Amino acid sequence: MNVISTQSLDPALDLVAEIKRLKKEKNAVILAHYYQAGEIQDIADFVGDSLDLSRKAAETDADMIVFCGVRFMAEVAKILSPKKTVVLPDINAGCSLEDSCQPDEFEAFVKAHPDHLVLSYINCSAGVKAHTDIIVTSSNAEHIVSQLPADQKIIFAPDMHLGGYLSRKLGRDMLLWQGTCIVHELFSEKELMKLKAKYPDAPVAAHPECPDNIVRHADHVGSTSSILKFCTEHTQDTLIVATEPGIIHQMEKAAPHKTFIGAPGADGNCSCNTCPFMALNTMEKLYLCLKNGGPEIELDEETRLKAEMPLRKMLDMSQPVNSK
Ligand code: 13P
Ligand code: SF4
Repeated sequence: MNVISTQSLDPALDLVAEIKRLKKEKNAVILAHYYQAGEIQDIADFVGDSLDLSRKAAETDADMIVFCGVRFMAEVAKILSPKKTVVLPDINAGCSLEDSCQPDEFEAFVKAHPDHLVLSYINCSAGVKAHTDIIVTSSNAEHIVSQLPADQKIIFAPDMHLGGYLSRKLGRDMLLWQGTCIVHELFSEKELMKLKAKYPDAPVAAHPECPDNIVRHADHVGSTSSILKFCTEHTQDTLIVATEPGIIHQMEKAAPHKTFIGAPGADGNCSCNTCPFMALNTMEKLYLCLKNGGPEIELDEETRLKAEMPLRKMLDMSQPVNSK
């Protein structure tokens, strides 16, 4: 069941109460990424970054995992917990990084460089993971790359900006797949400079999916969890946040007295930096997917087994990275 309609829903339905009731009835756990709408984050059992969410999905004893995030995240949950039913409110919630790297093309690229170790950012399909040696997230990438021998040749896919950041920071030469995140790519250096001039004391936190012309102005670069920690714990009360604005919901909950300003796009406001894929999930679709037990993530077993190896390797090599 991959097509759902929210049109026939009774507008008087108490979605929050119904979602809570169905969650109990189905022994389901709701996992949400920080880029989800605030109301979805508020009803979730756990909100986190990609690494936190992978760990939760691997550990849960629920029968159903309702993944409020994008498809590659829900696929990771299925790869690590194959016996569970994993559902995603909108099956079309993709990711531009995943789209940039097709498994067949990637396989050919990997085969053309047999002396390279293949590192892939978790933002890719199960098919790409199946041709990867080690998966990384923005929380653990530095820690994992630092454990590799200095002369080890590395392919890094699909995010050229995260790969470029790691390469510069760790002084490692890497063969970079040329994928990008359409959201983080839109931040404007010129507009950021104007904002910094207006708020000269405001530290800037940026996700490493941003291009170098943004990252180079940041006081902190890291995963969504680390950005949240940096911004809420910083002694300054006004901070500039260069990642998807959904995360500001948790910042405002944790530090309501502070001001968090989303870094601007080229038009001077940050509305263009909302992830259109994450935004496909809504409370209505969350309710329906719990009710219908779908859209469900299904993977062929051969691909799942091949994709599981680099993910387990990542979990082993991430110890003791704690993204919180
Ligand atoms: P995090 O692992 O930092 O949550 O990043 C996920 C993501 O898709 C960022 O665009
Ligand atoms: Fe993909 Fe970018 Fe959206 Fe993250 S913010 S899910 S990387 S398109």
